[in-house]
Order: sequence, then C-alpha cells, then structure tokens
Amino acid sequence: MDLRLVSPEAAENEAELSLRPRWLREYIGQGKAKETLSVFIEAARARGESLDHVLLFGPPGLGKTTLANIIATEMGVGIRVTSGPAIERAGDLAAILTNLASGDVLFIDEVHRLSRMVEEILYPAMEDFALDIIIGKGPAARSIRLDLPRFTLIGATTRAGLLTAPLRDRFGVISRLEFYQTGELEQILLRAADILRIELDREGAGEIAARSRGTPRVANRLLKRVRDYAQVRAAGLVDLDVAREALDFLQVDPLGLDAGDRRILSTIIEKFGGGPVGLETLAASTGEAPDALEDVFEPFLLQLGLLARTPRGRVALEAAYRHLNCLHLAPRQVTLEGG
Ligand SMILES: Nc1ncnc2c1ncn2[C@@H]1O[C@H](COP(=O)(O)OP(=O)(O)OP(=O)(O)O)[C@@H](O)[C@H]1O
Ligand SMILES: [Mg+2]
Repeated sequence: MDLRLVSPEAAENEAELSLRPRWLREYIGQGKAKETLSVFIEAARARGESLDHVLLFGPPGLGKTTLANIIATEMGVGIRVTSGPAIERAGDLAAILTNLASGDVLFIDEVHRLSRMVEEILYPAMEDFALDIIIGKGPAARSIRLDLPRFTLIGATTRAGLLTAPLRDRFGVISRLEFYQTGELEQILLRAADILRIELDREGAGEIAARSRGTPRVANRLLKRVRDYAQVRAAGLVDLDVAREALDFLQVDPLGLDAGDRRILSTIIEKFGGGPVGLETLAASTGEAPDALEDVFEPFLLQLGLLARTPRGRVALEAAYRHLNCLHLAPRQVTLEGG
C-alpha cells in the first residue's frame, strides 16, 4: 500500500532520529504521562533501583518509541529494542533477557503481538526476574530457574485492548498517550524546523499543526514537504501564506483530510444519500479494501465527528456535509441533529 502523506504510521525510510527529543524536558505535550513518569523515574533513581515496568499505549506516531528512549536516558541505563513479532521463539526472548545489564530497559514494540509461548517466559521474568527453562525431553525433563538482572520492560502498543490480562497486570505503570493539541504541535514543529534549519514562523507552524491530525509524526512529515514547496515556489521562508499554499498543493485540507478521506465522505453522501451504507459496499465503491477503510481511514473521520458507525452501516454526519460544502444535500434529520 502507498504511504499516505497524512498516515500516522512511519514510512520505511522515514528519518526520524534527529527529531526525537532525548530528555523528558524536551518532550512536548502529554502532560499527564510525562508527570507520572517523571515521578516514578525520580523515585526509582533516588532509591537506586530499576524503574517498574511501563506500558505505553496510544495511536501510532504519538511518541511511544521516543518516550521509551527518553526513559532509558533519564534513568542513565542502556536500552535494548525489539518487537512482539520479532521474538519468534521462547529461546529468542531467553537470549535477549540473559544478555541485559542490570537496570537496562527492554523495549518491546507491538507488545500485543507476542506469541503465547513467549509471553509465558515473560511472566516470571517480569515478576521475579527469573527464567524458567526446561532441560531434556519427555519424562526426564526438568525445569531449572535462572536468575536474571533486574530490568525494566517497556511495552508499547497501539491496541491495549488486545493485550492479555495477565500481561497487562504485570505492568506497574500504564500510560496512555493522547492526540496533541494544535499549540503543542506548533511547538514541536518550531523545534523540528530549528533542527532541520527550516525558516518557519509561528503562523506557518500553526497552519501545519492544524492540519497534522494531532500527530507529531504527521506534523514533521508535512513540514518537510512544505519546505520543499517553499524552496521551489517561495523565497524559502514558511509563513502562513506559504504553508497554506503548500498544504493545498499537497491536497491536505484544513482539517488534515487527504483526497482519500474526502472521497470516502463524498461517496457516502453522493452515492448513498448520506448512508447508512455497509462496509463492504462502501469499500467496493471507493476502491479501498474493507480493512483499510476500517483501520486506516475511519478512525480519524470518527474522531472528527464526520462519520458515524451504526448497526446498519456508515453514516455521514452534518460536519461532513459542511466540510465538503454540500449542506444542501443533507437529509433533514442530519441537519437538525447537529442543530
Ligand atoms: N512529544 C514530542 N515532542 C517532540 N517530538 C515528538 C514528540 N512525540 C513524538 N515526536 C516526534 O514524532 C516522531 C514519531 O514518534 P514515535 O516514533 O516515538 O511514535 P510512536 O508512538 O512510537 O509510533 P508507532 O506507533 O508508529 O511506533 C518522532 O520521530 C519524534 O520526532
Ligand atoms: Mg514506535
């Protein structure tokens, strides 16, 4: 699948490293998660202990990986990075665990995708810092317990609901990341522009922020594309006008919708009288896969209140008619509902 400009997921070669804040004080927004973590970090440091296991959850691109790295930096320990699907066999995890240094962070991305067998190894490791391994086969098999160094597991997931209860219960700190406010994204953009040596003023940053879907990854990506536009079409400075022109040129509209999002809404409105229309039917008429509709397009449209999922199918809401400038097509109850 082509990566959309406004996708919250990372593109394959997306260069993000230089833009990642390294310390908690440089990490903008997420006030609640930041406050909780800073208290726990300070307490653990004062006691000279390792930090309790941390679960970070929230939509892609909001800064889970960044935060995991920051925690290791703030604790002054090493970090080992892996992901749920990458740990195929129980032995893989055992090898990782026995190679950790005392206090290290083990970061497991997509932690909801660990296999059952691997998870079972993880329970005693998280709880007792011990590894139970079976030696031999059949009736002669016996289990021995190996001590592990104390470590901090940081798990990240976009789908906390898919985590098994026993795994979730073993995290001492659970932090949920939220979408960012426009003002926070504006600060993130000004910081990124500084690092990338892009001339960006406050209004320009505000305009890009407003179209970034609450997601720093999208904001940083739009900034880079806007810079290209400014370099070729304007004198280089990204101000309000240049940002607007560039984003219109890139077909990212003032709400952060791209052509695909708008096509879905206009299909529901124009071909299906505003809905309800079933997922499969909508997929067939927009040329998108049903999975992509559900996982990629709909969450943001639902969040903005442009679309609703009902038992009978998808319905375009009044805000969608207004956004697409076709309020005259709205069925009466839709218009009335929204006031
Ligand atoms: N609070 C923040 N302040 C500044 N920049 C941020 C912040 N959060 C995220 N970023 C930027 O957004 C980019 C994406 O963040 P990150 O890779 O940590 O997201 P993620 O939640 O791990 O995403 P995924 O679910 O896809 O793994 C980072 O490269 C970083 O530059
Ligand atoms: Mg990540």
